[in-house]
Amino acid sequence: MGTVLEAFDLNTFYDRSHILFDVSLNIASGETVCLMGRNGVGKTTTFRSLMGLTPPKTGKIVFKGKTCTGFKPYRMARLGLGFVPEDRRILGPFTVQENLELGRIPSRSGRWDLDAVYAQFPILANMTHRMGGTLSGGEQQMLTIARALMGNPDVLVLDEPSEGLSPVIISELKTLIQSLKAADTTILLSEQNLKFAMAVSDRVVVLDKGHVVYEGTTDAFQGQEQVHKKYLAV
Ligand SMILES: Nc1ncnc2c1ncn2[C@@H]1O[C@H](COP(=O)(O)OP(=O)(O)OP(=O)(O)O)[C@@H](O)[C@H]1O
Ligand SMILES: [Mg+2]
Repeated sequence: MGTVLEAFDLNTFYDRSHILFDVSLNIASGETVCLMGRNGVGKTTTFRSLMGLTPPKTGKIVFKGKTCTGFKPYRMARLGLGFVPEDRRILGPFTVQENLELGRIPSRSGRWDLDAVYAQFPILANMTHRMGGTLSGGEQQMLTIARALMGNPDVLVLDEPSEGLSPVIISELKTLIQSLKAADTTILLSEQNLKFAMAVSDRVVVLDKGHVVYEGTTDAFQGQEQVHKKYLAV
């Protein structure tokens, strides 16, 4: 499995606030990597850096062998980086189907189209004409993931997908991610829910105050209770 996305020594700022300090990470094709850490440690900023929403001041991003540091978000999306932000931007006045169609990226094709998405997300297939704004939190989370898949990304980036969802929905989300994994989807996610992260990831990267403080396989991470206590909200 080759590396598909790599970040080298990212240093990212909001104005003069230095947020990420030499953050490096990589993800191989077909792998699921989870970025963990408490509130405010820089998980979202790492994803914003990769997407070009808040480009790093220094460092390098290589996606599919191409250096794309500083590329605009639309270019990263066209190259195949599909981002599902933390705040789930569903378009309220548009139907479920319209929201999905907006996820299409004309230059990208693959296994995901409306039929494939509805087969994977039966819950959405039953509400194609519902307005996005009337969906529950869990339904909106499914819709934003489905919308990102419509762009046939090479890497699906999910920022804290389980946040604010009920245990039943979290369990459905787990099943969904496991099924995407089984179909060789490459997934980079962030999480604070340790159980959820362990159930879906192959590898874990832990951030603290903008620094990578731990990296290892999920199996190895399982027994690291000191690390959990020190860096996670457990
Ligand atoms: N637009 C911004 N302007 C200034 N500072 C910001 C901005 N966005 C985030 N920050 C700060 O950057 C740091 C990292 O925030 P970030 O959102 O990346 O953390 P996070 O790990 O995603 O946290 P959470 O788990 O709460 O989502 C925090 O100290 C936060 O206050
Ligand atoms: Mg965040």
